[in-house]
Amino acid sequence: MLSTDPLWYKDAVFYEIHVKAFADGNGDGIGDFQGLIGKLDYLQWLGVDCIWLLPFYPSPLKDDGYDVADFLQVAEQYGTMDEVRHFLDEAHRRGIRVIVDLVLNHTSDQHTWFQQARSSPQSPKRGFYVWSNNDRTYGKARIIFIDTEKSNWTWDPEAKAFYWHRFFSHQPDLNYDNPEVRQAMLETMAFWLDQGLDGFRCDAVPYLFEREGTICENLPETHTYLKEVRRKIDVAYQGRILLAEANQWPTDVRPYFGDGDEFHMAFHFPLMPRLYMGVQSGNRDPIIDMFTHTPEIPPNCQWCLFLRNHDELTLEMCSGEERDYMYYTYARDPKMRRNIGIARRLAPLLENDRRKIELLNSLVFTLPGSPIIYYGDEIGMGDNVQLKDRDGVRTPMQWTMDRNGGFSNCDPARLYLPVVADPIYGYQSVNVESQKAMPHTLLQWMKQMIKVRKQHPAFGRGTITFLRPANGRVLVYVRRHEDTTLLLVHNLAGSAQPVELDLKEFAGSTPVELLGEARFPRVTERPYVLTLAAYGYYWLNLVPEHPRGEFYGIEQTAL
Ligand code: BGC
Repeated sequence: MLSTDPLWYKDAVFYEIHVKAFADGNGDGIGDFQGLIGKLDYLQWLGVDCIWLLPFYPSPLKDDGYDVADFLQVAEQYGTMDEVRHFLDEAHRRGIRVIVDLVLNHTSDQHTWFQQARSSPQSPKRGFYVWSNNDRTYGKARIIFIDTEKSNWTWDPEAKAFYWHRFFSHQPDLNYDNPEVRQAMLETMAFWLDQGLDGFRCDAVPYLFEREGTICENLPETHTYLKEVRRKIDVAYQGRILLAEANQWPTDVRPYFGDGDEFHMAFHFPLMPRLYMGVQSGNRDPIIDMFTHTPEIPPNCQWCLFLRNHDELTLEMCSGEERDYMYYTYARDPKMRRNIGIARRLAPLLENDRRKIELLNSLVFTLPGSPIIYYGDEIGMGDNVQLKDRDGVRTPMQWTMDRNGGFSNCDPARLYLPVVADPIYGYQSVNVESQKAMPHTLLQWMKQMIKVRKQHPAFGRGTITFLRPANGRVLVYVRRHEDTTLLLVHNLAGSAQPVELDLKEFAGSTPVELLGEARFPRVTERPYVLTLAAYGYYWLNLVPEHPRGEFYGIEQTAL
């Protein structure tokens, strides 16, 4: 059953899925809702609280479904509306919530709104999009997809006008100055919430409005509309959430939380590349610096932390120097680069080094926010950099060592994308079945970490204080919530490291390691010395001394 806590998302572990990539129920080579329903037990076993589904609406699939042709239908290849409802019921029965992408900013040029709009200046839908008789209007707005687009305007010979688009030229932007558009999208949202969805990952929210002389991002009008969206949720759909995709600097993302009256959650984009920089350089500064740039957010809000997703590992929020460093380190082969970023999966980025994979996951599980796992990263799936666009990280989920990795029983030639089959990451070596069968695999480790995380609300709700021991290769922070104090220690270096911590404030308490429940030596006024293996980490619960001087807090069985 679903938890009834309205702040459930603060403790939740999220899991991102593309319906087409997860499991094929009808053998046509494309994943579908029927297949997904069959895998819910797996997600429950893993400990997932909320699934984020990528767009599953009818689409010409020129941007893998983010080019929506009809907001109110399910794409035929994924199933029927009844199957979606059945899927939602089955997920909810297992205590799993489901959010889906809501693509507010644009539609496909195949959407009937655009088809009608372009047909005549008198069309009632003309005002649904942003038109101009020249391509110089809003000239201060940057181009986002710089590897494919030359301008934010495209000439439409049928409309005999330029139309505005922040992404691909086949994705015209909706005109939010038009009240009918604003209303239509509110109705779209209500439609899906009425089907039982638990909220939305709102795509590309900074770009809803345009104003001459501005960069056309994060405008006040955008926030006014998004607050209206939130009001609708609060009035009629308590417990449902809005998650913002705003790839911006934290101070620009902060207004998307409003006074707790806009988004419940937002991705922390700039933190993500700094986690990779930290582990690559063995230096905690990039990570701590990012938190010094991260403002406080209202108590009913939450960051969403991630290592990878369906897009390129974006370097938009990096300086030129940082970008060069990331490319040099993680994408020397130009085939690995897409737009301003790197289209690779977690395991290959980290050279399949289990220690680094654990370390980075440990960071997103313990820093302030709720973690999102990208499907397949829990088993260390690989990528295929030969595929176009971002397809290399969207290949079929690897379930077993059977045909097509157990994803589909179709003729392999019919698969929507080839399954990864190389000797290191191929489905014969990397799959759920084999990792479930052995106790110390990455998958079992992820399951264990998720379980432990859930036992301590301090991970999702606690404050954070960084300690700054002399050894800068070790990242140390304290998370506090109610009467729990957790001490998190991460060695970002590829060699063993000692660290001396000033824990005077906690003198008398006993650190208990959360995974094995071993008791560490009691904290005193003196420097507390820990040694860490290469890329090692500790999750320690600082259990206070009992008033009578005895240890308490966990059962004494570990003794
Ligand atoms: C999505 C991308 C998509 C873009 C345009 C992004 O925010 O994550 O996959 O290409 O929006 O819709």
